[in-house]
Amino acid sequence: MKTYIVGNWKMNLTVGESSIYLHKLLKRLKQARGLEVVVAPSLIAIQSLSLQVDRHKIKLAAQNFYHQDYGAYTGEVSISQLRTLVDYAIVGHSERRYIFKETDKDIRAKVAAAIRNGVTPILCIGETASERDFGETKDVLRDQLFGGLSDVSAEDLKKVIIAYEPVWAISSVKGARLASPDDIATSVDLIHKQLKARFGKEVEEQIPVLYGGSVNPSNAGAYLTIPGVNGLLIGGSSLIADHFVDIIDLAKRLRS
Ligand code: PGA
Repeated sequence: MKTYIVGNWKMNLTVGESSIYLHKLLKRLKQARGLEVVVAPSLIAIQSLSLQVDRHKIKLAAQNFYHQDYGAYTGEVSISQLRTLVDYAIVGHSERRYIFKETDKDIRAKVAAAIRNGVTPILCIGETASERDFGETKDVLRDQLFGGLSDVSAEDLKKVIIAYEPVWAISSVKGARLASPDDIATSVDLIHKQLKARFGKEVEEQIPVLYGGSVNPSNAGAYLTIPGVNGLLIGGSSLIADHFVDIIDLAKRLRS
């Protein structure tokens, strides 16, 4: 299984700044076997970055899209419009769930749309601080996991990536705390067990599970070595070239 290092730039960087940043990354990164580096720029930058990027080194991801392929949906962009520009799409990020009120039904439709269009969905799941305090983590993870995946065929499940992102550990969330490797190991183990129980061992073994939430160069090594963690989804630190490259180099060293 590959190691995935995914940078989510969120609503940051202009088109020009994105291009300069990508140029910097491309200069510093070498193609690495077994390592998949992905960046998710703002929607407006994706078109130009897709012409600039070297897909052997870095792949592009959409941060969001609408689940219909085309039609009268003013202001929306579909994954069928993005499919030639991106290889991945983030779906169900907690900012989409909680700020934009996306439901599991919306997220399920987006997962299906991504797969239908040949784009790999990165389905984000994770409990809030209060869900965790009330001991609801297991139920929340199960509901979000199967809420997002229930329309996916057994064959297509192998084209999905899961990202475990506890909302309470995301750096921009008020009062965010660092998740300990033990916290993450417990939840990631739960996710693997739930996938196995529902879809079988063969499918479960092919679904990468990433971790995201306040990842930086000093904790990335500990997070990457948690059993069952196949990569990282990085917000804040992915906007700092030195940090992002340090994390990629670390992932490379851990694989060799
Ligand atoms: P963070 O964001 O790394 O800044 O915590 C992660 C995310 O929201 O995907």
